[in-house]
Amino acid sequence: MSAGIINARPTGIVAQATDLRRVYKIRRGLFKEPAELHAVGGVSFTLEAGKTLAVVGESGCGKSTLARMVSLIEEPTAGQLVVDGIDVAGMGAAQRHNLRRAVQLVFQNPYGSLNPRKKIGDILEAPLAINMPFGKDERKRRVQEMLRQVGLRPEYAQRYPHMFSGGQRQRIAIARALMLSPKLVVADEPVSALDVSVQAQVLNLLADLQAELGLAYLFISHDLGVVRHIAHDVLVMYLGHAVEQGPKQRIFARPLHPYTQALLASTPGLSNQRIVLKGELPSPLDPPAGCVFNTRCAHATDRCRAERPVLRLLDERLVACHHAEKFLVDGGASVPAAENAPLASAKLSQPAI
Ligand SMILES: Nc1ncnc2c1ncn2[C@@H]1O[C@H](COP(=O)(O)OP(=O)(O)OP(=O)(O)O)[C@@H](O)[C@H]1O
Ligand SMILES: [Mg+2]
Repeated sequence: MSAGIINARPTGIVAQATDLRRVYKIRRGLFKEPAELHAVGGVSFTLEAGKTLAVVGESGCGKSTLARMVSLIEEPTAGQLVVDGIDVAGMGAAQRHNLRRAVQLVFQNPYGSLNPRKKIGDILEAPLAINMPFGKDERKRRVQEMLRQVGLRPEYAQRYPHMFSGGQRQRIAIARALMLSPKLVVADEPVSALDVSVQAQVLNLLADLQAELGLAYLFISHDLGVVRHIAHDVLVMYLGHAVEQGPKQRIFARPLHPYTQALLASTPGLSNQRIVLKGELPSPLDPPAGCVFNTRCAHATDRCRAERPVLRLLDERLVACHHAEKFLVDGGASVPAAENAPLASAKLSQPAI
């Protein structure tokens, strides 16, 4: 890599969440008590430098809420969050300032996230101007270096966002996120708005940058096809709860939670099972008693309707299902997970510059 963008390659644990929760109070009228919506109902994970934790699940399961907590935009209601060795709950203003540099965000929408009236160079320079003691020339040099690093021409600094394609804009958004040498990048559906061939290029860029810079990614996605290529670990969420989590290889080769099995079965090419989920997603304001998934699970028993299963270790991953042993023999999906190698379609196409 070109020198100067990042000084020390991070190692070790970058983020650790323990029983992280976020409750929203929802007003239901003037005289009623507000209802409690448990958007994230107790999630724990450890994220190391150079690794990607992918958070997957249907719309409304709490992925973005988790992302906002980890990126310090929103405070947890309960639980502990340690980022870059600092407990977020007790930190002072100076620590918060430093952490905000260490954690950066990439959003889904590459059209909305870049100011249309600003040149790319100014967009990329802004975080440096605010946070770093660099002069104008040094800032310009770093902007050009970063553009190269994300596969764009340095002269693009003079152009405006509307002159770029969706994939190029997402490269610019990634460049902006990396300007302050973060340790952790929280990416909330970063490729969902892009065409499939462009998705592959952006995923490969993220993987290359991770290998070069030792970045940790919290990667939010509803698409297991995407997760399969970028993740090291996977956290499957349903109605705010982690139902299965662990190494990608284990989970893709043999999912032990019926919800993970259903997600895999609904993603083309990832499973030879056919699973149709029954019923609707329950309201998060009125989640089912017992296992949160029981109303849609073909394997649910009386125990599932009465007793909430806790995450427990089975076959090298954590799973919250009373009947998970059953799937050790029955098997779930059976397509081996890909190594985190470049995507074939990206190899075939030219970089988007
Ligand atoms: N600021 C808020 N106030 C009240 N409820 C909220 C707020 N933000 C999120 N929620 C609720 O919390 C739950 C989780 O939302 P969240 O946006 O985290 O889900 P998600 O998994 O990111 O969904 P999607 O895939 O649609 O982006 C949803 O029921 C949502 O309506
Ligand atoms: Mg979301």
